[in-house]
Amino acid sequence: MSALISVDNLRKNYGAVTALCGISFDVEVSELTAIIGPSGCGKSTLLRCLNGLELFDGGSVRIGEITLDRNNGLSPRDFNARLRQLREEAGMVFQSFNLFPHLTALENATLAPMVVKKIDRKAAEPKARELLKKVGLGDRMDYYPSQLSGGQQQRAAIARALAMEPKVMLYDEPTSALDPSLVGEVLSIMRKLDDEGMTQIVVTHEMRFAREVADKILVLSDGELIESDSPDVIFTSPRDERTRNFLRSFL
Ligand SMILES: Nc1ncnc2c1ncn2[C@@H]1O[C@H](COP(=O)(O)OP(=O)(O)O)[C@@H](O)[C@H]1O
Ligand SMILES: [Mg+2]
Repeated sequence: MSALISVDNLRKNYGAVTALCGISFDVEVSELTAIIGPSGCGKSTLLRCLNGLELFDGGSVRIGEITLDRNNGLSPRDFNARLRQLREEAGMVFQSFNLFPHLTALENATLAPMVVKKIDRKAAEPKARELLKKVGLGDRMDYYPSQLSGGQQQRAAIARALAMEPKVMLYDEPTSALDPSLVGEVLSIMRKLDDEGMTQIVVTHEMRFAREVADKILVLSDGELIESDSPDVIFTSPRDERTRNFLRSFL
């Protein structure tokens, strides 16, 4: 069976800065992939290219049956349609939650399927309630983001992303903005989704989580994928000296 996600020779520049210089990897269905590496190495750029939030300069990204290829000869209109399709395949969770501040948790999780997928409220709302219960917010559905803790906001953001029924969930440092006491409640949602077979890609500095839960670890350095292996190999016998130096900074 072919991989759920294929990234092939992905390149991205910001002016003279090379953010990604030819990244290739696959993700199998149900896998949890952790992306690690020092600040500025291209982790966020990679996630953003994966779901079409950022245009890239070369290579291709495929999620399921949707392929975005820089040199595909599509008209601008067809290219934008493809971009939207890709975006629907991937749910994105940001470091800073990015909930709509003027909407309750329930409205946050109800709105996108209504707007993007044209699902009516009668169907979207029960689904949103179910997902909020699943992330432990059954008693907070009518709260606004400002009335929720950081951990609760991030769990609401996860429910909102899940409401779109994505093929993969992408997380960009989902616990980095949280008080240490709230990190665990967000990691445990990702563990639960992993147990249920959700495919997930997580940029994280939570090394213990990565080691315990990830199927595969990708190590980035200066826009390059320097190593990709099982947590056992990455944490006990990494091949690349840059990986060793990076991991040493966590000891
Ligand atoms: N919008 C942007 N404009 C210009 N340079 C950017 C932009 N976004 C990121 N970069 C640069 O691209 C590189 C990778 O950044 P990023 O993907 O945010 O790294 P990370 O998430 O690993 O910290 C860095 O050198 C960063 O300064
Ligand atoms: Mg980043």
